Amino acid sequence: MADDGSDGSFGPSELGTKEYWDAAYEREKRNFEDSGDVGEIWFGEDCMERIVAWFRKGSLVQTDSRILDIGSGNGAMLVEMAKEGFTSLTGMDYSQPSVDLAVNIAESENVNITFQRADILSTDDPIFSVDRFDVCTDKGTYDAISLSPDDAAQKRQTYVSHVHKLLRDSGLLVITSCNWTKDELLEHFSSGFESVDEIRHPTFMFGGKTGTTTTSIVFRKIDR
Ligand SMILES: C[S@@+](CC[C@H](N)C(=O)[O-])C[C@H]1O[C@@H](n2cnc3c(N)ncnc32)[C@H](O)[C@@H]1O
Repeated sequence: MADDGSDGSFGPSELGTKEYWDAAYEREKRNFEDSGDVGEIWFGEDCMERIVAWFRKGSLVQTDSRILDIGSGNGAMLVEMAKEGFTSLTGMDYSQPSVDLAVNIAESENVNITFQRADILSTDDPIFSVDRFDVCTDKGTYDAISLSPDDAAQKRQTYVSHVHKLLRDSGLLVITSCNWTKDELLEHFSSGFESVDEIRHPTFMFGGKTGTTTTSIVFRKIDR
């Protein structure tokens, strides 16, 4: 697939590079130490709260389900889940400063979450050798990978197959994107996943059409 936008993909951006995230989280780490500011909540707090509410209210996830947040950033969503009573929470991010920040924030909130540095695109990472997860979540990480300056289309395919590896049979992926539409996500995850639910975000009207800026789809792992 092309990386030039001809397949509906986005052009490369610094948000698709590890250097960008390392520098951003180094800054956010210092801000947290200086002022207690936890930094950016991607797609906003309301979006995060709607996702956490879906976990809490639905019947598909139990409080002791093994949950992995892929590209957990500052770990804010996992902190909210811990406060809602979820007990088996792991965050992974390929940026070490983000892991350090998330550990500091979780400690300050007195919640028990495991954070580890790991790259979702590399099966060499030890996270691939532990027991599989019941649920994976992603808010903005697939989007960031989609913006990679080199071979984004291939990286997206690698992402799909690696999430499939990390999940137990019939495990769930709860993915939130502001780059891709529902139909695009359904197509990207059509091999090895079926859609079982959607978390609704507010819609807007523009030029007589209704749209939404954020899409959250719940996929269940099936055979590839
Ligand atoms: C848009 S931010 C979202 C952070 C967090 N999920 C949130 O909602 O606040 C994207 C995150 O993905 C991480 N990331 C990007 N590529 C990754 C990869 N290959 N493996 C693991 N994490 C990655 C970045 O370091 C960053 O923390």
